[in-house]
Amino acid sequence: MIVSTKANGRAAQATGASVSEDRLASRTRRMSASAISEILKVASRPGVISLAGGLPAPESFPVAYAHELIEGALKKHGPSIFQYGPTEGFLPLREAIAGYLAERDVVAAADEVVITTGSQQTLDALGKVLISPGDKIAVESPTYLGAICGFNPYQPDYVALESDDDGVIPEALEQALEDHVIKFVYLIPNFQNPSGRTLSLARRKAIAAMARKHGALIIEDDPYRSLRYEGEHLPTLWSLAPELVVYAGTLSKVLSPGMRIGFCVAPPLIRRWIVLAKQGMDLHTSSLDQAIAAEYISGGYLKSHLPDIIALYRPRLGAMLDSLEESLPKNYSWSHPEGGMFLWLSGPAGLDTEKLYPLAVERNVAYVPGRYFFTTPGEGNNTARLNFSNVDEAAIRTGIEKLASLMLETTGR
Ligand SMILES: Cc1ncc(COP(=O)(O)O)c(C=O)c1O
Repeated sequence: MIVSTKANGRAAQATGASVSEDRLASRTRRMSASAISEILKVASRPGVISLAGGLPAPESFPVAYAHELIEGALKKHGPSIFQYGPTEGFLPLREAIAGYLAERDVVAAADEVVITTGSQQTLDALGKVLISPGDKIAVESPTYLGAICGFNPYQPDYVALESDDDGVIPEALEQALEDHVIKFVYLIPNFQNPSGRTLSLARRKAIAAMARKHGALIIEDDPYRSLRYEGEHLPTLWSLAPELVVYAGTLSKVLSPGMRIGFCVAPPLIRRWIVLAKQGMDLHTSSLDQAIAAEYISGGYLKSHLPDIIALYRPRLGAMLDSLEESLPKNYSWSHPEGGMFLWLSGPAGLDTEKLYPLAVERNVAYVPGRYFFTTPGEGNNTARLNFSNVDEAAIRTGIEKLASLMLETTGR
């Protein structure tokens, strides 16, 4: 019998029944409402200089010529851009992404590219099709919080891999692969979120060789590669071991995060399962957004706009590095990224960035306490992630000065 929700509501009122926690699936036990969303809420209060979020600068968005992108897409594809489409993605976008990827040495045909709703969806889909409860996943330490949130509902156990300034330490990975059955290894080789570190060439080669030796599957999450402000691009892990690497990318950092356009290239079996998982999630990514994104790449807008984005962020990174140098003594250290959006700050043992956070917000500056990026409790209490993409140089300087003086008040000089 079909009963209207209104009637159900009335019945609930009459009996006092309500939905309680025991109605929830067991997997929700690993899906804690992240404390970080509270942190970001506070960070977005008016007047607060936020070095907390991971937002691209609004000035980097294609506002001035968005109408050209939509008109171009409409002219080429007509009403089909408002229609349902294939789960794998809008073919002109898959073709455009294949061209974009070839420039970063991921050589794949258009039909080997899957469009996802942000690269976050690739991570969720991989969790869904690869992780059974109790499976072990190797992750950098620290690692991207969104990946942990994406994987957690599938109830994995994490093996944390020690990392230093050159990224994950290959010996740590070798040890993990020898000691455990690792379902996959999740890595962010370029300008890592949260640390800003880049995996060195020698380590990329060592890790690719190790993957081959152990038959290990690697997830290469690469949202920041295009945002390189100095130095040379390094080969992707995919290019070094394509048969064992799932390459995940996104247009969130070079077009718009709000459009939710991600993509991946994966070994055929995994690609098929990602598509099946995606079908159940959202059928396909927005046709309109995919068509606009296709126009952005194939119309040459990305190529001409990317140098502007780099020119916007490079001095912001420089301002942050200079201010840290001027404001903090030698018992503090920080990463020196050559690109991306984040820098990683470590203080002396007495520093507790979580405790300090409300005081920092009182002084109108926000960051993310580093402990949230570790899978092992108790780690990273003296660390913080600092974002430099979303505020200008003057605000960065003021923010770092405020933060540094607060930190020095608690740890001494
Ligand atoms: C390492 C990493 N992976 C994935 C994502 C998700 O990006 P998207 O907007 O494509 O879902 C982010 C976003 O900040 C990220 O930093």
